[in-house]
Amino acid sequence: MRVAVGPLGLLLTLVHFSQQVPEPNRKDYYVGAVVEFAPYVNVKDGPATLEKNVNSYADFAKQAKQQDADIIVFPEDGLTSYSMPGKSKMDPWTTVIPSPKEEYVPCTGDRSGVSQTLKQLSCAARTNSIYLVANIAEKGCPNGNAVECPDNRTIYHNTNVAFDRNGTIIARYRKVNLYDEAQFDVVNPPEVVTFDTDFGVKFGTFICFDILFPVPALNLTRQLGVTDIVYSTAWFSESPFLTAVQTQYGWSYAENANLLAAGYNKPQFGSAGSGIYLGTNGIATATITEKSQSRLLVSRVPKKTPPSPPDVLSSIQKDPSSDKSDSCYNMTAPDIDVLGVLIKRDNIQPYQTDLLNEASFNKNVCYNDFCCNFRGSKVVDGNEMSTIYRAVVYNGCRIYGRSAHADIRVCAVTQCLNESVSSCGIVNPSAVTFNNIEITTTVRNSTRVLLALPSALNSSLLPFERWTYSKEKVTTENATRYTITLKEPTSDISTFGIYMRDVGKESNGTGELFSLSTIIFSILMSTIALLANRH
Ligand SMILES: *[C@@H]1O[C@H](CO)[C@@H](O)[C@H](O)[C@H]1NC(C)=O
Ligand SMILES: *[C@@H]1O[C@H](CO)[C@@H](O)[C@H](O)[C@H]1NC(C)=O
Ligand SMILES: *[C@@H]1O[C@H](CO)[C@@H](O)[C@H](O)[C@H]1NC(C)=O
Ligand SMILES: *[C@@H]1O[C@H](CO)[C@@H](O)[C@H](O)[C@H]1NC(C)=O
Ligand SMILES: *[C@@H]1O[C@H](CO)[C@@H](O)[C@H](O)[C@H]1NC(C)=O
Ligand SMILES: *[C@@H]1O[C@H](CO)[C@@H](O)[C@H](O)[C@H]1NC(C)=O
Ligand SMILES: *[C@@H]1O[C@H](CO)[C@@H](O)[C@H](O)[C@H]1NC(C)=O
Ligand SMILES: *[C@@H]1O[C@H](CO)[C@@H](O)[C@H](O)[C@H]1NC(C)=O
Repeated sequence: MRVAVGPLGLLLTLVHFSQQVPEPNRKDYYVGAVVEFAPYVNVKDGPATLEKNVNSYADFAKQAKQQDADIIVFPEDGLTSYSMPGKSKMDPWTTVIPSPKEEYVPCTGDRSGVSQTLKQLSCAARTNSIYLVANIAEKGCPNGNAVECPDNRTIYHNTNVAFDRNGTIIARYRKVNLYDEAQFDVVNPPEVVTFDTDFGVKFGTFICFDILFPVPALNLTRQLGVTDIVYSTAWFSESPFLTAVQTQYGWSYAENANLLAAGYNKPQFGSAGSGIYLGTNGIATATITEKSQSRLLVSRVPKKTPPSPPDVLSSIQKDPSSDKSDSCYNMTAPDIDVLGVLIKRDNIQPYQTDLLNEASFNKNVCYNDFCCNFRGSKVVDGNEMSTIYRAVVYNGCRIYGRSAHADIRVCAVTQCLNESVSSCGIVNPSAVTFNNIEITTTVRNSTRVLLALPSALNSSLLPFERWTYSKEKVTTENATRYTITLKEPTSDISTFGIYMRDVGKESNGTGELFSLSTIIFSILMSTIALLANRH
C-alpha cells in the first residue's frame, strides 16, 4: 500500500491499516490467564495437600506461558482447599510471607517460616518468567510479621501474594471482608494493595466477598484510578443476583475495570465460575460448569487508560446518619440445583413485587420511597410453566452468610416458577422472549456511595451481554439516574436489572463478620457446615 504524504494522509492510512489488520499492537494489550481450580484435599495432611496443589499450579504456569501469558491468577483457597482445620491446627497449612518492601525471592532464599509452597510458587513465576498471583493461608503475629509471636499468639490471614517474573514478592494483600472464616483475622487498618508490572499496567487485588464492599475494592478503582484487578475467589453462587460470573462481570462493568477472576471449583458445594472481563467492553472469556475440574482461561486484555483525575466525586464517604438497627432479612429458600451447580437462593419475599403478566408493561414499583420503572414487552411461545416474571424492588438490609449485614437496593425483572413470590429467583429455560425491557431508577442524595452492578443472567448461568447501562447525574434533583435497557429481543432471561450495594450507610465499610458470637458459633461448626455457607 502506498502511503500518502503529509500528516493527514499518513493518519488516514494508519487508521485504515489498523482496520484491515485485526492484530493489535503488543503494547496495547497484555495476555492474562486465570485458573478455575478444583483442589486436591487431604483434611488430615496440610503439607501433602499443599504440595499436590502447588505442583498443579506450576503446570498451569507453564501452560499459560506457552500461550504467551504475562500474568496468571489462581483462586482463593486453591492451595489449601477450603477444608482447612480450625485455628489450633492451622500451622502446617500456612506460611510466613515477607513484606514486598524486602524484595524477597522465596525461590532462591532460605528464610525460616517461609513454606516450601511459597518457594515453589516463586520458582514457578521465575522459571516461566510470568507474573503469578496466588491465595495462600498466611501466618503472622498481631504485632507485625515476626516468626515467633509473643505468647504464641500466632494469627492467620487469608492472603493474596503476587510475584514478578523473577519470583520476587511484589504484593501481599490480606482479605478485609471475611465470610464466616473463623481461622482468619483481618488487619487494622485494612490494606489497599497494588503492584506494577513491566508491561505498564498497575494491578489492584482483592478476594471473594470483598467484591461487595467499598474497602478495598472502591479505594482501588475510585480513589487510586486502578484499571486492572486480579481477583481470587471461592464463591458460593446465589440466584437470582449473585451467581459467580454474573457478579464478576457486573462488578467489572460497573467500575469499568479489567477483572481477572480465578474461581475455586467445587460445583456440588456451589463454587464455580471464573473469567476475564473487560469492563464496559464485555466478557473476554468466562466459565461456569458442573464439571468438577480445573481449567485454564487465557485472553488478551486491552489496556485501559486510567481516569485522570480519578473520580474524586465518588470518593468513599461515610454517612453520619448511619443506622445499623434496620431489620435485615435472612435467606429462607432452600438451595437449588442449576445445571449441576448448587445455587443458594435469595429471599424475594420481603421485596415489593409486581407480576409482569401483560404482553406489554409500564409499571412503577416502589419499596417505600425507592421507586423503579419497568417498561417493555414480551412474547410467549409454548410452555405454560416457564413464563412467569416479576418486577422486584427492594431498599434495605439483608444478611450475607451467617451474620454480615449489608444494605442493598434492587430493581430487577426475575423469573418465577409460578405466581407465588416464594417461587421467584429460579434459573430455568424460559418460553418468553422479551422484545425490550427498560428499567430506570433515580437515587436521591447523589453523594451517597453506591456500587451499582448491572445484573444479567440467563438459563446457562451466564450474563447475557446485549444491553446498555447508564448512570447519569440529574443536576436539578441532586440525584443519580440509573438505566439498563435491552439492546435487542432476548430469550431465556432469568434476571435483568440493577443490584446495588448501598455502602454509604455502613460504619466502616467492611464486612463486620467478627462479632464474638460469630467466632464462637463458627468454632463449634463442622468444616462442612462452614463450607455450605461461605462466599
Ligand atoms: C509456645 O509454643 C512452644 C511450642 O509449641 C512451647 O514450647 C512454648 O512453651 C510456648 N510458649 C508460650 C509462652 O506459651
Ligand atoms: C529480574 O532480574 C533481572 C536479571 O537479574 C533484572 O534485570 C530485572 O530488573 C529483574 N526484574 C525485576 C522486576 O526486578
Ligand atoms: C479507603 O477508603 C476509605 C473510605 O473513604 C478511607 O477511609 C480509607 O482511608 C481508604 N484506605 C486507603 C488505604 O486509602
Ligand atoms: C441467617 O441464616 C443463616 C443460614 O440459614 C443462619 O446460619 C443465621 O443464623 C441466620 N442469621 C440470623 C441473624 O438470623
Ligand atoms: C409454586 O411453586 C412452589 C415451588 O417452588 C410450590 O411449593 C407452590 O405450591 C406453588 N404455588 C402455587 C400457587 O402454585
Ligand atoms: C436525603 O438526605 C436527607 C438528609 O440526610 C434525608 O433527610 C433524606 O431522607 C434523604 N433522602 C433519601 C431519598 O434518601
Ligand atoms: C446465555 O448467555 C451466554 C453469554 O452471552 C450465551 O453464550 C448463551 O448462549 C446464553 N444461553 C442461553 C440459553 O441463552
Ligand atoms: C445536594 O447534595 C449536597 C450534598 O448532600 C448538598 O450539600 C446540597 O445542598 C444539595 N443540593 C440540593 C439542591 O439539594
